[in-house]
Amino acid sequence: MDKVIPIKNIVSIGKVEYKHYRPSLWRNLWKNFLPNFFAGLLVTAFLMVLVFSASCKARRAEPSRETRTGEEARPLYTIGMSQCNLGEPWRVQMNLDIKNEAEKHPELKVIFKDAQNDSLRQQSQIEEFINAGVDLIIVSPKEAAPLTPPVAAAYEKGIPVIVLDRRVLGDKYTCFIGADNKKIGYAAGRWIVERLKGKGKVVELKGLMTSTPGQDRHTGFREAIKGTEIEVIFEADMKWLEPEARREMESALARFPRIDLVYAHNDPGAHGAYLAARAAGREKEIIFVGIDALPHEGQMYVRQGILEVSFEYPTGGREAILTALEILQGKQVPKEIVLSSRYFTRENIDQGGEPIEKLLAAKF
Ligand code: FRU
Repeated sequence: MDKVIPIKNIVSIGKVEYKHYRPSLWRNLWKNFLPNFFAGLLVTAFLMVLVFSASCKARRAEPSRETRTGEEARPLYTIGMSQCNLGEPWRVQMNLDIKNEAEKHPELKVIFKDAQNDSLRQQSQIEEFINAGVDLIIVSPKEAAPLTPPVAAAYEKGIPVIVLDRRVLGDKYTCFIGADNKKIGYAAGRWIVERLKGKGKVVELKGLMTSTPGQDRHTGFREAIKGTEIEVIFEADMKWLEPEARREMESALARFPRIDLVYAHNDPGAHGAYLAARAAGREKEIIFVGIDALPHEGQMYVRQGILEVSFEYPTGGREAILTALEILQGKQVPKEIVLSSRYFTRENIDQGGEPIEKLLAAKF
């Protein structure tokens, strides 16, 4: 018969019952668990050091921006573009011109923001671009004064700023691109003097007078008509907006039985005035003059006989991207890039208009 081994003796030959194991619990913990625990700890620490140093190396090797990988080109520079509003076709065209040119340069990425005709919103957009650390800012400001501080702040922080079409105050920006609005206003004035043979009653519908194109198109025009018998019988700030221009024109029509010509600072304004005159049955007795001359807006109105003339105001979108590239490549760019302008009448539209210098050179 087998010999019965008392249970408590089992402890000595192995791992049977815990109650018999208890006397040596601490010794076993010391002998088995702790060494394994510390070894595990060491291995984990080692692995952590490995992962950390690998990630540091990767971060050092990684360029500060995205670069080209193989054949595929990815953006190297981010441009923030703040557009003052997208309510008018001209501004939609400007964004399109920027987008189309930027797409030819895969190293560029453009972030568009629409300030919806609100200077406060546009100020915040510039600040957001600064905080996001974009490489360059393009801004087409709604108004000069409110946009001056944020543009200057970006410029002083070393972010190049291209100011497009409407100006800011002072000189704390990298480059201004736009046509010469005073010259355009002057050319419009010369055309009007010629058309009215130096005499007539005119309505001037001004663009937003807190924006520089409005001020310059007004000053240029007034200079050109000085000394003639052209009389501005009604003037109003229609803020670049067609519905506003239409309302103002309704007032002018109600007050003046004779109006020979409307000089509006942009084509939407001229069109608004035309609609008011047409509603009053007086459109045929009035000449309408506008500025912008987009093919699908002002030029189309000229073809339709709504406007007698429209002066081109180029968006500068393409030039802004080409200038941005030069700045980002460290090249020196001029402080001012002045774009040229053409005028379109029924007579010259099929040949693509004519440069406004032709009007300025003519002797009336
Ligand atoms: C569009 C617009 C154009 C005008 C330009 C002046 O917002 O009003 O019609 O030529 O702005 O900045």
